[in-house]
Amino acid sequence: MRITVNAAMTVDGKIATVSGNSKISSKEDLVRVHKLRSKSDAIMVGISTVLIDNPLLTVRLTKYKQKDPSRVIIDSCGRIPLDSKILKTASRIETIIFVSEGAQKQKIQSLKDRGAKVIVAGRKNVDLIKALFYLKKMGFKHILAEGGGELNWSLLNLGVVDKLIVTIAPIIVGGRTSTTLVEGCGYGTISDGIKMELNKVYRQNHGELVVAYSLNRFDI
Ligand SMILES: NC(=O)c1ccc[n+]([C@@H]2O[C@H](COP(=O)([O-])OP(=O)(O)OC[C@H]3O[C@@H](n4cnc5c(N)ncnc54)[C@H](OP(=O)(O)O)[C@@H]3O)[C@@H](O)[C@H]2O)c1
Repeated sequence: MRITVNAAMTVDGKIATVSGNSKISSKEDLVRVHKLRSKSDAIMVGISTVLIDNPLLTVRLTKYKQKDPSRVIIDSCGRIPLDSKILKTASRIETIIFVSEGAQKQKIQSLKDRGAKVIVAGRKNVDLIKALFYLKKMGFKHILAEGGGELNWSLLNLGVVDKLIVTIAPIIVGGRTSTTLVEGCGYGTISDGIKMELNKVYRQNHGELVVAYSLNRFDI
């Protein structure tokens, strides 16, 4: 199974502002992302991204669409709102929510009633490795992970990411608490950092740079 991480970032490394606003990509970049979605069989996000952005996670801006990829949400406690765009469309677009054993049975049932598949993986938090093995067993071949920073950290730290694609927008937003491309607890030394190989760089309109890296990864 291949895993690609894609994100849009400001020059100062933020993927959202202090207030959680993350509309960083230009229209041209969004079209690129929707093409990437159309070539993936699932789009994965962390629950905070759903709570803050309320995304639909479908393919809309390209005509190269066969069918919408499945949506995969990593949500230990089952916090996804029942009126979120994802759950409102869960009966027609496959939606898989990974929760932990801590999620309430009643909430799990409400999610299932809306058409979502709910899979328990992990005791207190979602065990991402277990979740990825479930997805592999279900036949998924290419997962596109679209953030946020915590999920990016977990996937990168596990060493399961094949490709990292970052759009760097020529803007700075600052903010000590604004979410960065990769959150988590981080590494203490530069030499412990995750090494990547630069694959491709190109410029889009409005001065955006798209940078693609490949990583040595643990095969899942
Ligand atoms: N510019 C971009 O490309 C872009 C893309 C996506 C998001 N964003 C922005 O990023 C921000 C959200 O990012 P975030 O870093 O706060 O959160 P996130 O990565 O979206 O979600 C993190 C949450 O997922 C749950 N989770 C469960 N198991 C996990 C695991 N093994 N590893 C990681 N997460 C796990 C945790 O909540 P529980 O403990 O409740 O399970 C965790 O707090 C938003 O402001 C959004 O707008 C920007």
